[in-house]
Amino acid sequence: MNKEKGEKKIKTGIPGFDDLFEEGIPQGASVLIEGGPGSGKTTFCLQLAYNACKSGLRTLYMSFEEPEYRLESHMKGYGWEPEKYEKEGLLLLKRFNALDIARSVEALLSEAKRELLIDIQPVLIPEDFKPDLVCIDSLSAISSAFSGEESRFRIYMEQLFRYLEAHNINSFLVREVANPTHVGAVYVETGEAVSFLSDGIITLYNVIYSDGRRGRAIEILKMRGEDVKRKIVAAEILKNKGFVVYSSGQLTGDYRLT
Ligand SMILES: Nc1ncnc2c1ncn2[C@@H]1O[C@H](COP(=O)(O)OP(=O)(O)OP(=O)(O)O)[C@@H](O)[C@H]1O
Ligand SMILES: [Mg+2]
Repeated sequence: MNKEKGEKKIKTGIPGFDDLFEEGIPQGASVLIEGGPGSGKTTFCLQLAYNACKSGLRTLYMSFEEPEYRLESHMKGYGWEPEKYEKEGLLLLKRFNALDIARSVEALLSEAKRELLIDIQPVLIPEDFKPDLVCIDSLSAISSAFSGEESRFRIYMEQLFRYLEAHNINSFLVREVANPTHVGAVYVETGEAVSFLSDGIITLYNVIYSDGRRGRAIEILKMRGEDVKRKIVAAEILKNKGFVVYSSGQLTGDYRLT
């Protein structure tokens, strides 16, 4: 166990969002970013990754979905300058192939005498880049590469969380969910394991108002070791700005969360 864990708190720098915390996200926490398709998971993570670089943290964005140039172009669309930090060696946007990971894990497990002995380092984090913060976009993409091999995915996830904890790395792990989790439904799927392993869960919602308008909303579902405001608040994704959270108000009107 790393003694520093939980002592320091970090800010996301996302306008309005940090006001939902008493202090911030505990240093070294693993946080799931959950939401449906198009709910803004990638934008949210790119924005906090970019803000982390601004405050001098070495940040690794691991993409299993979109290629590096697309992430860069999203960032520029929000008015940010990723190249600046890439040149300084503070930001690494890197695309990975989930099937390669699944195959490596399979090979390592068949070599290992005891399953828990597998070493996560060669299967995931580039050895030459020692990050303070890691985003993984998405666990869902990794999970589908393990399809039919749920127990291997669980072993891999346990190892990954252990690795991040041992290195005191802040991590933001994207998970696509079909439905919002706040309703308290019990999820019987591989993702359930990662909910227990994570220190925090941030849920992004697509909002459908009864008059046909659509909006966005966000909630901190859990955050171990931190006092947070428990409410669902409105958010927007704006050109030249990115995510903006309206944390002082509550969602109003007749609406449905998806
Ligand atoms: N430059 C931009 N300015 C304003 N809005 C944008 C911009 N780029 C993207 N968006 C909006 O942000 C939305 C969310 O995109 P994002 O890729 O972050 O969601 P996601 O949850 O990661 O989606 P997916 O499930 O496909 O991975 C897009 O559907 C789009 O409407
Ligand atoms: Mg995405």
